[in-house]
Amino acid sequence: MTADDDDLPIERPLGEPFSEILARRLGRRAALAGIAGAGMSAAVPGWLAAAGKNPSSLTFEQPSHIIENTDAIAAGYRADVLIRWGDPVLIGAPVFDPNNLNAAAQSKQFGYNNDFLAYLPLPGAGADTASTRGLLCVNHEYTNSELMWAGVSGKPKSEVMTAERIRTEMAAHGLSIIEIAKSAGRWQVVSDSKYPRRITTLATPIGISGPAAGTARMRTATDPSGTRVIGTVNNCAGGVTPWGTVLTAEENFHGYFSGDPVLTSEARNHARLGINGRPWYNWADADERFDVEKHPNEPNRFGWMVEIDPFDPTSTPVKRTALGRFKHEGAGVTLSAERRAVVYMGDDQAFEYLYRFVSQVRVPESGKPAADLLDHGTLSVARFDDDGALRWLPLRFGEGPLTAANGFTSAADVMIEARRAADLLGATPLDRPEDVEVNPVNGKIYVMLTNNKSRGTDKKDAANPRGPNPNGHILELTPKGGDHGASSANWNVFLLAGDLSKDAGARYHPELAQHGAWLAGPDNAAVDPKGRLWIATDQGSAQRKNKIPDGIYAADVDGAGRALTRLFYRCPRDAEMCGPAFTPDGKTLFVAVQHPGEGKGSNFETPSTRWPDFKAGPPPRPAVVAITKSDGGAIGS
Ligand code: FEO
Ligand code: CA
Ligand code: CA
Ligand code: CA
Repeated sequence: MTADDDDLPIERPLGEPFSEILARRLGRRAALAGIAGAGMSAAVPGWLAAAGKNPSSLTFEQPSHIIENTDAIAAGYRADVLIRWGDPVLIGAPVFDPNNLNAAAQSKQFGYNNDFLAYLPLPGAGADTASTRGLLCVNHEYTNSELMWAGVSGKPKSEVMTAERIRTEMAAHGLSIIEIAKSAGRWQVVSDSKYPRRITTLATPIGISGPAAGTARMRTATDPSGTRVIGTVNNCAGGVTPWGTVLTAEENFHGYFSGDPVLTSEARNHARLGINGRPWYNWADADERFDVEKHPNEPNRFGWMVEIDPFDPTSTPVKRTALGRFKHEGAGVTLSAERRAVVYMGDDQAFEYLYRFVSQVRVPESGKPAADLLDHGTLSVARFDDDGALRWLPLRFGEGPLTAANGFTSAADVMIEARRAADLLGATPLDRPEDVEVNPVNGKIYVMLTNNKSRGTDKKDAANPRGPNPNGHILELTPKGGDHGASSANWNVFLLAGDLSKDAGARYHPELAQHGAWLAGPDNAAVDPKGRLWIATDQGSAQRKNKIPDGIYAADVDGAGRALTRLFYRCPRDAEMCGPAFTPDGKTLFVAVQHPGEGKGSNFETPSTRWPDFKAGPPPRPAVVAITKSDGGAIGS
């Protein structure tokens, strides 16, 4: 997101002071020497030094490591725009007209700022069709008003963002579900599909289930039942469940609420989540539920993980409160040894935590689990010890500090204030936990820690070994006994990101300078059928300073090429890379180019790029890109 301030840490308002949480962690601190493990190198100067054979299994020719107005892909591959903001999703969607945006049109068109992508084969697809026809579910995280409308840049929102514009923004948020098919090597949207759907913040009813559903703190004037809310918002990343549903994560929901939270009955709760009376948007001008003074419980109905059945366009998506409420980045979904559903989740803000949900009931070998599978189970938070152990600490009402003495009177309270519960349990504050990716090939888990400029040099620990950490790092977790349901795991550092020539703390494969490319801001990731990691980066405003592009950087995770990241796809100027998703055959990689042209001085009139259309007049358009190999082979072959 653009507003860098929103990634800054939040002082824990009550309960154990944050300084004491950190102090206790630091008491366990071991020497940092050797944490990167064997095979990692110190900074290697000499970017183009001559070298021997590339030890990576990835041999594609990298595009140049520079920023340009357009995108670029490795030699031998094609990157085709599949769908752009404003393209039709529903039947009857009007043709995109950047000079006449309106809520009715936007409600039928592809939304703004595509982030997470899920590709799902159609029901009953065989091996021959699973990777050539399927559904694509796309999150639309937020909107850039200054790039959508003329005359907005630099003006107070209250003056230029009219009620109709606000409603258009609300319709540009949410998700799009489209059917796509590959024919003669090219992917296209299926225009006569029965599946397409827009889910919006403006109008889509969403159910609420689990421990918090129907409880007093979830009720509002428009929903006295506390079980139904209009819309999902700031959907960042997500995950696909083994039973074919999609999880979509509500991240920076705080940015939508106006009014003074201190005056409300939920002051402590709102403060811990960054609802501070300084919203990004003026949505309360058009919809008073975004005014916390009038509707103090409305924010409690956002910040959840939402489950969607994309194969039933009439189904009601459900906010699953058993998975806790925080700034949900995404979901890494897998099964435990006993076939319980396991969902790994990051809370994306500086010094926030890594969570894991394990369902009470097992997932059947065949057929769908009960619809309420994700409503019952145990939510835990991670404590990373400096000896390389990770403990999962359960957030159970009535246990340890999670009692009335600390303001928790029910399981609903624990879920609604999951962050505060995790503070009290002594979870480890991390450097902005973004995507968590389960690697089914080696059984490990990869945690993207995007950055943390606020970690002081005195606040380092083994799992967060740099302070400040402007470039981020990736942790690798190994669940005990290979069981994702185990109460502990081991962890190590996979890489420490940054420019090798400037960042003495950067650590990759020792031959990165000769054979790869450095990265910064790991945000999302996907695993290919060979178990290799494809990392999507988001440096935020630092991209202009770093002078390297956000994009896809791929690496082996095991063997001689471990942590040798290579640039595969490069975003156009001022975009971040999101949503990497492979087809099951590994022959297509879908990526989402989010907010091309975002940044200081760039606006509708004079954007920094007009990707992907490059026509005079239309602004840049966030878009999904389908990447294939020109010879029809697997990506990375
Ligand atoms: Fe929406 Fe954490 O990136
Ligand atoms: Ca993200
Ligand atoms: Ca992912
Ligand atoms: Ca991001």
